[in-house]
Amino acid sequence: MADAFRRFRVIAKVRESEVVTSFHLTPVDGGPLWQALPGQYLTLRVPTAQGTVLKTYSLSGDVQRDEAHRISVKRACAPDGVEVPDGIGSCWLHDQVEEGAEIDIAPPRGGFVLDQESTRPVLLLAGGIGITPLLAMAKVLARAKRRVWIFHASENGDVQALGPELKALAERAEGRIALHVVHRAPNENDRVGGRFDSEGVIDKNLLQSQLPLDDYEVYMCGPTAFMVAMYRILTELGIHENRIAYEFFGAATPLYKLAVQPVSAPRAASRAPKAIAALVNLTDPEAWAVSETHEPTADGDRQEMAVSGDSVHFSKSGITATMGGDVRTLLEMAEDAGLEPDFSCRSGICNTCRCTLVEGEVSYVEEPLETPPAGQVLICCARPKGRVVLDL
Ligand code: FES
Repeated sequence: MADAFRRFRVIAKVRESEVVTSFHLTPVDGGPLWQALPGQYLTLRVPTAQGTVLKTYSLSGDVQRDEAHRISVKRACAPDGVEVPDGIGSCWLHDQVEEGAEIDIAPPRGGFVLDQESTRPVLLLAGGIGITPLLAMAKVLARAKRRVWIFHASENGDVQALGPELKALAERAEGRIALHVVHRAPNENDRVGGRFDSEGVIDKNLLQSQLPLDDYEVYMCGPTAFMVAMYRILTELGIHENRIAYEFFGAATPLYKLAVQPVSAPRAASRAPKAIAALVNLTDPEAWAVSETHEPTADGDRQEMAVSGDSVHFSKSGITATMGGDVRTLLEMAEDAGLEPDFSCRSGICNTCRCTLVEGEVSYVEEPLETPPAGQVLICCARPKGRVVLDL
């Protein structure tokens, strides 16, 4: 497979807040920018002492009109004295990448994209740096005829990402885009400068007080706890699951599962490369068209799922599962059968989920960034074609 990566030059590095910096990127080969959809992300090769790792960052600019791709990155270094791994990609970008530097980047990916055919009103819910893909959507929505509500939750105005840009966007839309900024702990500058609309968090009362009754499509992005809280509130307010699209920054897990459990971080992939800490899971609303619970029915050491023609036998565990319901991938089939395969990105980038395909054929619901070797399969983005056997 040809190398998907292309070399880009940083033509501008712009500090957006105390912790967020934007990088404007143009191709070194002088060719056109990649075509991207609002909400998609780029994959960067990041050099480390241990070799190259891949990191993904949402496009935060106007993907239809900008003359450079823009990513806006929150610095995620561990505080002094705290023994947790730094965000390798974000610290490298912030500390070592200056204007003129060159970076290998793979084309835009991801299905968390704005439905530009729809005419429904749009609700964008962002927690912290989760604003980046939503800002790309808002820039395109600013030229559409739809009503748009944006809620952005941050700690305060010093760390809020892209606050002035959001505000200017809403002002130019002359009432069609309503922006509501929520600061959990506003400081003196926020109060003097009028940099927020509400203090605290985005909760049910706030949404009810600001949003007229309507048939919204919701796009949301932010930390796991934020997303779980928003998902619960939205479904309590009667917004159907298949109108809620979301993207995780962090290990990816379906929200409908987290929302019925106590809030906690999704299970970390035990062998995921440490550097791959900002990854995404994209929700295809169609995948939720059939809403079912997925309690496997125990039957000795064999378990059967809802019926369809495609099936997988996990040879090490002796479990067989059949494709059905809203399950889309071999990884989801394994998880619903009670197995715990390693994963990280769930979108064909990191190779953490790679397994040996003992028998049968698969197709990819999302093409892997790099095709795995013959006899191997990335189970996070593959589904069975007929019957397959996996070494799991
Ligand atoms: S979990 Fe990353 S490629 Fe499958």
